[in-house]
Amino acid sequence: MTAPDPTTLLSLATELARSAGALTLEMRATARLVPDLKSSVSDLVTAADRAAESLIVDGILAQRPDDSILGEEGADTEGTSGVRWVIDPIDGTSNYVYDLPGYTISIAAEWEGTTVAGVVFDPKADELFAASQGAGATMNGSPLRCSERSVLEQCIIATGFGYQPEQRRVQAEVLVSVLPLVGNIRRLGSAALDLAYVAAGRTDGYWETGLNAWDAAAGALIAAEAGAIVTDLDHGAPSQDMVIAAPPSIHPTLQSVLKAAYTTVSGQGRDD
Ligand code: IPD
Ligand code: CA
Repeated sequence: MTAPDPTTLLSLATELARSAGALTLEMRATARLVPDLKSSVSDLVTAADRAAESLIVDGILAQRPDDSILGEEGADTEGTSGVRWVIDPIDGTSNYVYDLPGYTISIAAEWEGTTVAGVVFDPKADELFAASQGAGATMNGSPLRCSERSVLEQCIIATGFGYQPEQRRVQAEVLVSVLPLVGNIRRLGSAALDLAYVAAGRTDGYWETGLNAWDAAAGALIAAEAGAIVTDLDHGAPSQDMVIAAPPSIHPTLQSVLKAAYTTVSGQGRDD
């Protein structure tokens, strides 16, 4: 198998993210929004999530019929090319339903398991965050660099919460430990945008547990290409257990604060 050119994959992701973004804006303005429920009563999905995923999947397969695809709304295609696309057609569906700012279309392309291109598009703000492996990260074409702050007590850190009540109880207990040690906390409502904002230096760091591959794949590459360190709790690759993204100036401190908080919470007999 020949390795693909990440720039070609990035161009396709960009084109499809913009088209899907336009579709979601149009559906938000014209269609009746009756969300369905997914994993819990707070986990929403709309016709726009499904329509955007179909648009993206059809667009990929029209040009690259041998690729694999994993999408939040059920796309699961096994291809032979070694390229896999990981798609969240609307990350931040609650923001979308409530017409709040900050929902995104997230598209990543992996080559043999490594993300080599990623796009996070915020259609309401018309901001497109993009990166390809080794070529840096951009927002609407301008280069991005993560923040250089080094005092955690002065840093704005974003996080997010899952949809299961017990998972949220653990996340809330960790937040109780972390909040006094940071400048402030943000909960934007889209993990993909959280990671893109770390890349842009709009926040100083981000962590979340329980994410799926489609929430974080594109944003993690964008953050890393803007200079952030993106790991789990133990210096490994980010995973469903934990994603931490922060500049080198605060990543070690944030990671040890989170490690201590999770150790305390697990010591009380709970896991996440
Ligand atoms: C969610 C968002 C949210 C994060 C959740 C995700 P969805 O994705 O990224 O910010 O906290 O963990 O599940 O459900 O809006 O696609
Ligand atoms: Ca998501």
